[in-house]
Amino acid sequence: ADTTVHSASAMTLSRFMLEQSMKNQEYQELEALMSSIQVACKMIANLVSRAGITDLTGMQGGGGSVNIQGEEQKKLDVISNDILKECLRYTGKLGVIASEEEDHPVLVEEAFSAKYVAVFDPLDGSSNIDAAISTGTIFGIFEEKEECLVEDDADLDEARLKCLLNTLQPGDNLVAAGYCMYSSSTILVFTMGNGVNGFTLDPTIGEFVLTHPNIQVPKRGKIYSFNEANSPDWDTGLQNYVEAIKSGKGESGARYSSRYIGSMVGDVHRTLLYGGIFGYPGDKKNPNGKLRLLYEAAPMSFIVEQAGGKSTTGKERIMNIHPEQVHQRVPTFLGSADDVTELEKSLK
Ligand code: AHG
Ligand code: MN
Ligand code: MN
Ligand code: MN
Repeated sequence: ADTTVHSASAMTLSRFMLEQSMKNQEYQELEALMSSIQVACKMIANLVSRAGITDLTGMQGGGGSVNIQGEEQKKLDVISNDILKECLRYTGKLGVIASEEEDHPVLVEEAFSAKYVAVFDPLDGSSNIDAAISTGTIFGIFEEKEECLVEDDADLDEARLKCLLNTLQPGDNLVAAGYCMYSSSTILVFTMGNGVNGFTLDPTIGEFVLTHPNIQVPKRGKIYSFNEANSPDWDTGLQNYVEAIKSGKGESGARYSSRYIGSMVGDVHRTLLYGGIFGYPGDKKNPNGKLRLLYEAAPMSFIVEQAGGKSTTGKERIMNIHPEQVHQRVPTFLGSADDVTELEKSLK
């Protein structure tokens, strides 16, 4: 039996946010958002862990339900999206929600003090769900730039346009970002621009407990994480870089190992803790790669930079990029500062 007895002083996520908001006024609003996000993540963790039992594996509607990305939706893609929208909607703090599983940003009528915009990937790595391999939820929070409260139907289109503009913000505008990884442990990692902290769900008390305070990415690692099946279509600079670190001819002289699980959340979490480099490059077939800027690359870049790492398209810092479309893709390389810098040099 689990003998760990949590003293009453266990630093739960709820208590952490209470203390942060007492220290800093601006975190007060975020406290309500983080509280609703953690409830949503606990619900999704619960569904994911019993997917095979409750017949929640497999495709939405028995197959054929395709999202705007042209990806076939899993049942849990849709259910996770609904859970997050519902949990966030009732905070009353959000005017707009953008999601991988929503064609267009959703105007939140329930918002009475709509100050924030939430962007999220409700279930990342969902192709892995039927094999019970790690998946995750990725989220980012922006402040609304233009109020897009709906006064009456007359200006609904105007409001919709405004709310689209509210979602198209660069990563540098993020006020908070994080992910929840559903793996051998359920771990919620996030930043509010003041460092990165990780909380592990303790099912015996149903609380996220601080387990990874002030995460710092090692300056250099020995793991690279790309889908090498695409390497014939990669830029030659990238091919040369990967060959070099494989054969110990890179800057550090070490022979790197390869780890790639095909769920961004799992691959990034390992990179954050162990160091090294994760990437989804652009290639001849898909010049912008596969990862979406708004709710995958930008939130993860905020976290990695806040943990002392680096994140780039290979040509520019991802956090600088102003999205033009909600679902636009961007080549993504992130992880240990020295590894990412070495990669950038090889792409020049
Ligand atoms: P999602 O499941 O949210 O659509 O994201 C899948 C992404 C990301 O999680 C992962 O890094 C990448 O797809 C893997 O793509 P490949 O299978 O093409 O390597
Ligand atoms: Mn998807
Ligand atoms: Mn994803
Ligand atoms: Mn997804």
